[in-house]
Amino acid sequence: MVTLVYDVLREEEKMLIKAAERLSVRLELAQIGEAVEVEGWRRQEVYLIRTLSHNRGITTAAIIEGNGGIAVNSFCALVTSWNKAATHAKLKGVGLPVPKTAILFGEADVEIGGRAIVKTVSGSWGRKVALVSTPEELKLLLKSAEGDVLMLQEMVGTGEDIRVFVVGGRAVAAMRRIPPEGDWRSNAARGGKTLPQPVDGELEELAVKAAEAVGAHYAGVDVLVGDKLYINEVNGIPEFKALVKTTGIDVAGHIIQTLKDLAKR
Ligand SMILES: Nc1ncnc2c1ncn2[C@@H]1O[C@H](COP(=O)(O)OP(=O)(O)O)[C@@H](O)[C@H]1O
Ligand SMILES: [Mg+2]
Repeated sequence: MVTLVYDVLREEEKMLIKAAERLSVRLELAQIGEAVEVEGWRRQEVYLIRTLSHNRGITTAAIIEGNGGIAVNSFCALVTSWNKAATHAKLKGVGLPVPKTAILFGEADVEIGGRAIVKTVSGSWGRKVALVSTPEELKLLLKSAEGDVLMLQEMVGTGEDIRVFVVGGRAVAAMRRIPPEGDWRSNAARGGKTLPQPVDGELEELAVKAAEAVGAHYAGVDVLVGDKLYINEVNGIPEFKALVKTTGIDVAGHIIQTLKDLAKR
């Protein structure tokens, strides 16, 4: 038995429901937007966590695992992928290429040589990422951080990157994301251009290893393109409607198939 845990029914969740029907996988729905009875959850086995809210996601993952169920992604993978500094540490730890990064826990006197990227450890859709060129700009950002941990990072290339979707240890789809005019952020939500990207060789190997490093059964791995490839981040509850639109690949089907395999174990 597989259960889809969600709060907001986005396009991705609708695609997953349809894919389950197509693949004859019984998919229970558990909406946790309101108070929910989680007692009975231990009877089922595999839970796909697709909440928009991070807190809801990690809390349900912990409950599921506490009850002996399998959370996809796991509590640990969700916590790690949500925190870009934690992800960075894990990736670096297994020897994967990552942008040069300093973690700033408070106001510090840091030198910057040219343009650099500053981001909070948690954020999405390119909202909490800034480009700084002077020490003054950096100081200002640090001042307004209000206790947030920040990352100061070398800028790799122009911000263009490749989103690789990894499911069950395989890279199943990828797209190149080109930032919109006047921007350096490639997030699909910002309206840049996307192109299908074949995924093999080094790109595939890096993406699969990155998902594995955070312990994700499936993930959206972002790979920056500079003088070489660098892994920027790993998304533990990735959206994929833009990827499907760009590549025509049945991403939801791949996810459902992996859940089916996990449920059989
Ligand atoms: N070190 C970097 N070098 C170049 N571009 C970057 C870097 N970090 C982020 N970006 C650009 O900003 C976008 C958003 O940053 P990211 O770290 O992925 O945060 P988010 O979680 O908001 O997507 C990336 O997709 C990329 O285009
Ligand atoms: Mg990103």
